Amino acid sequence: MNYQRFTDSEGKKLSALLPGADTEIIRQHISASLNFDLIFTSQSLDPANSALYSVMADSHSKQVTVFVDSGVASAFPHVTENMTAYLEHYGLKCVSPPVIYPGGEMVKNGWHYVMDMMNRLIQDRMCRHSFCIALGGGALLDAAGFAASMVHRGIRLIRMPTTALSQDDSGVGVKNGINYNGFKNLIGAFSPPFAVINDSDFLKTLPPVAIRDGLAEAFKVAIIKDKTFFRYLCDNIDAIRNCDWPVIETAVKRSAILHLHHIGTGGDPMEKGESRPLDFGHWSAHKLESMSNHAISHGTGVSIGIAIDTMIAFMLGFISLRERDMIMESLQKSGMTIFTPLLQKRDKNGKLVVYHGIEEFREHLGGKLCITLPSGLGNRTEIHHLHEDKVEEAIKLLEQRWEQMGNL
Ligand SMILES: NC(=O)c1ccc[n+]([C@@H]2O[C@H](COP(=O)([O-])OP(=O)(O)OC[C@H]3O[C@@H](n4cnc5c(N)ncnc54)[C@H](O)[C@@H]3O)[C@@H](O)[C@H]2O)c1
Ligand SMILES: [Zn+2]
Repeated sequence: MNYQRFTDSEGKKLSALLPGADTEIIRQHISASLNFDLIFTSQSLDPANSALYSVMADSHSKQVTVFVDSGVASAFPHVTENMTAYLEHYGLKCVSPPVIYPGGEMVKNGWHYVMDMMNRLIQDRMCRHSFCIALGGGALLDAAGFAASMVHRGIRLIRMPTTALSQDDSGVGVKNGINYNGFKNLIGAFSPPFAVINDSDFLKTLPPVAIRDGLAEAFKVAIIKDKTFFRYLCDNIDAIRNCDWPVIETAVKRSAILHLHHIGTGGDPMEKGESRPLDFGHWSAHKLESMSNHAISHGTGVSIGIAIDTMIAFMLGFISLRERDMIMESLQKSGMTIFTPLLQKRDKNGKLVVYHGIEEFREHLGGKLCITLPSGLGNRTEIHHLHEDKVEEAIKLLEQRWEQMGNL
């Protein structure tokens, strides 16, 4: 073993213990500053509103390919015509008519639709300066974002999220991907969008259960990062349960900003480290989604996941009984699910199937296990081991609570 010449790309000398004599290492540093605008607006496809155009105005290319979620196309029957008319109004060109893809998990289960999206982008002769507009829920955005990230190694993606969850969490992040071999998000890429347009009008056709899905992510980020926001959610719990508009809009916006802030300032936007605060409640959420063949939505998985990890945080002494009950009550009073009998399902060795979610979570994120738990309200801590007994106990407590109280 010898110390060898080891410099970085600016010629600064470094030293390292290297095997072999004729070795030279030059360490490359790349720092790329990535910016994108998140725009909150309404009536985004009305030509009088130039918000969507404004993000494309300076581009050399005027070519656009549009992918639309079938749920959005049903709820807004004129949406594809409106999109085409809007783009034409501003001198942009929808190369081929907007393509409608199935909404929900189906669009991101396996390669089928992503391949189709890539083929459309290729047929439309899109380049790195052209635009792919994806209008839909988190699943459609994940698939479209992945397709756009691969063609020419990146077409400019404009996300137009149309669910509460995609406006307050998934649509404002940098992750794209698909489910594969029964595992959530097994294949995908980190690729920031070119811009995100959060049009609140799209949320008005969502059923209450879908609004709650989005609110689960708002509770998640509030509980571990923003006590004031958590109190706001608790103080407005009836309004949340009744899907009263100003409160939902405020909660979605605050949650989006907290997610944005974490990704922008948390120091690990591409998740290379082990810590993953925004995945609070997610080790079990992803497992339950897969176990239920996606009958349990992501948002519902997250509300159950928050409930399990809140129980565990209490057992480990990170939150008080009062704090535990505040969290549990807020979830139950807002109409969220905190328990499913799937949590009690066992494998042939008698082990809880959901418990396998921990190892799958660790493998997906890489490195050592890191589970985020609340530590007080608005704060967080991390644990690196979680014994099955604790999960068993948490599930038992949840079942009792759910049987006795359900949605309060
Ligand atoms: N990339 C990320 O960082 C990230 C983060 C969180 C979640 N996700 C992913 O997001 C997905 C969940 O997204 P979601 O909660 O938005 O649900 P979704 O995309 O599965 O959509 C749910 C249903 O709502 C319909 N729909 C969409 N917009 C509508 C509208 N305006 N009116 C009526 N119906 C509408 C869809 O067609 C679908 O049937 C999961 O696959 C999850 O893994 C990704
Ligand atoms: Zn999530």
